[in-house]
Amino acid sequence: MSNPHSFHLNPHSGATSCNVRSSVSQQQAEMEGAMSVKISCLLLSLVGISLVLGAYQPIKIEVDKNVETKIFTDEEIANYDGSQEDKPIYMAVKGAVFDVTSGKSFYGKKGPYNALAGKDATLGVAKMSLQPEDLISDVSSLSDEQLKELDTTFEQVYTAKYPVVGYMSYLIDQQEADAARREDL
Ligand code: HEM
Repeated sequence: MSNPHSFHLNPHSGATSCNVRSSVSQQQAEMEGAMSVKISCLLLSLVGISLVLGAYQPIKIEVDKNVETKIFTDEEIANYDGSQEDKPIYMAVKGAVFDVTSGKSFYGKKGPYNALAGKDATLGVAKMSLQPEDLISDVSSLSDEQLKELDTTFEQVYTAKYPVVGYMSYLIDQQEADAARREDL
């Protein structure tokens, strides 16, 4: 829908009807021109700064090296998908692997969210989707708002309810690559 106020014209934007300009008014016009360039630059800088500052910074997973944790590949975590009664149930969100066995009614073999077990389906958790194409860890398609919601679920559901038992190998690789890049700078 178009902005309902857009029909109001700025009274200062109309063209002047005066054709003969004195040098004083020319000088004044030049000064005004220079001023408006400065203001435009200032506004552009402010927009730039707010874009940088305004972008949502997702929670960074701190790998706790003091706790005895395991690094999981996709194949390894798949062994804990709730299909075997005698094994714990694991699922990963944002690369952190949680023991969700106490939430068996959600993630167990017959649970409604069993599709999330035994994998890192962060995108599905973020989008509240169980569609097979969303059961992946790549969240690059999400908006800032969705990334924020994901962090809320991460903190209020996963870290609040379930112990961390390890990290996905992709997260470790990503963090090592980030550290190497920082050293290069
Ligand atoms: C008709 C649709 C749905 C309804 C009525 C529903 C309902 C609920 C309810 C009532 C809870 C809280 C249970 C509790 O804490 O005791 C819950 C938790 C949850 N739901 Fe859904 N849900 C729906 C769809 C989905 C979908 C499509 C997803 C896809 C990812 C999803 C993911 C989750 C997750 C991850 C939890 C947290 C489970 C936990 O505490 O470990 N839900 N849902």
